[in-house]
Amino acid sequence: MNWEPQGMYSKFLLKQPTILFGENALMGLKTYACTRVSVIYGSSLDDEYKRKVSNALSSFEISFVKKTWHGEPTLKSLHSTIKEIEEFQPDLIIAIGGGSVIDGAKMVRTYYEFPFFDVRETSFSMLNWKTTFVAIPTTIGSGAEISSASVMYSESQKTKEFVISHQFIPEIIVLEVSLIENAPKRVLLTSMVDALSHAIEGYMSTIDNLLVDSYAEKAIQIIAEYHHVITSGTEKEFINKLQLASLFAGLVQNHCIVGATHALAHQMSSYGLSHAGAIALFLPAVIRKNIDSPNPKARFDQLAKHSGFTKGADLLNFVESFIAGIDLTKEKDTLKKNRQRIISDNAFFEQALSDKGGQGNPVPMNKEFLLEIFKEASS
Ligand SMILES: [Fe+2]
Repeated sequence: MNWEPQGMYSKFLLKQPTILFGENALMGLKTYACTRVSVIYGSSLDDEYKRKVSNALSSFEISFVKKTWHGEPTLKSLHSTIKEIEEFQPDLIIAIGGGSVIDGAKMVRTYYEFPFFDVRETSFSMLNWKTTFVAIPTTIGSGAEISSASVMYSESQKTKEFVISHQFIPEIIVLEVSLIENAPKRVLLTSMVDALSHAIEGYMSTIDNLLVDSYAEKAIQIIAEYHHVITSGTEKEFINKLQLASLFAGLVQNHCIVGATHALAHQMSSYGLSHAGAIALFLPAVIRKNIDSPNPKARFDQLAKHSGFTKGADLLNFVESFIAGIDLTKEKDTLKKNRQRIISDNAFFEQALSDKGGQGNPVPMNKEFLLEIFKEASS
């Protein structure tokens, strides 16, 4: 596998950030010395939250910079934000937003500190930062805040591109319930499926790490115990636990690399499906296919037991009934409508096989393998 030098995986953990969570988690930033702070944010940050951020910082000057890119950032669309940051010269950068804001801010920081950085150059894993980078996610599930990857859009290739350095992992992550508690239930539920997929696929992947295993087990245990707070709409304070579970699952994904669910789901973005929605379509079929083989089955059984289930079948049952409780009409219709076209589209499966984000599947993947999963998921 051509991913990173194998030596990286002799580490128990890659870069590990400080995680601030619980009520008023943001106030934990007060303890970090800083003089000039730039806050890069998406479209939805209100004045009240800006005041809250200002109160939580001990800096002399703060600039709020609205992101200049839409969707996945491109080098061109990052440009004016980079320029603003260069003029302000911050020593601490905060990104508040979803995956696209956090990923873009990772690159803004990189170009601010290393103007000659080249996204095609992959041997830059030892960047030494002068700034401190803080991520405050306003979404849940994707794991962007703990990811070594920045998903960019390449205008020349017309594809998504993963720029990867373990140094992209922020120094500090703040998990604030208030930023996500009012998100639509359906979004929160599908996000939890994405988090489950990171924990399950990462745990079963070809990269084994005992310490990271415990993060996967804990993530699943928390989601199984607290997911009801999304549908009930009560006990919103427990959403913080789901944020933590999602972060743990993201850490598992980042260390161990996910598998066939992600390889297939990534291809569905060109059919207009959200990442989490597409994951929900494929996850059960991928688990079923993988546990046909003895070793992955043993791993799945172990994961189930360590996360509070009696056996693998119970965990699979939980995943399936969780997904059945989400309205996936749009996703299922899209899959059905395009079923025949995709089945005969060789490029769809070729791209899935070479997808950088899906290379950790415990059973070696080939077209036949993915085709069977696709047929089952779309039947
Ligand atoms: Fe994912």
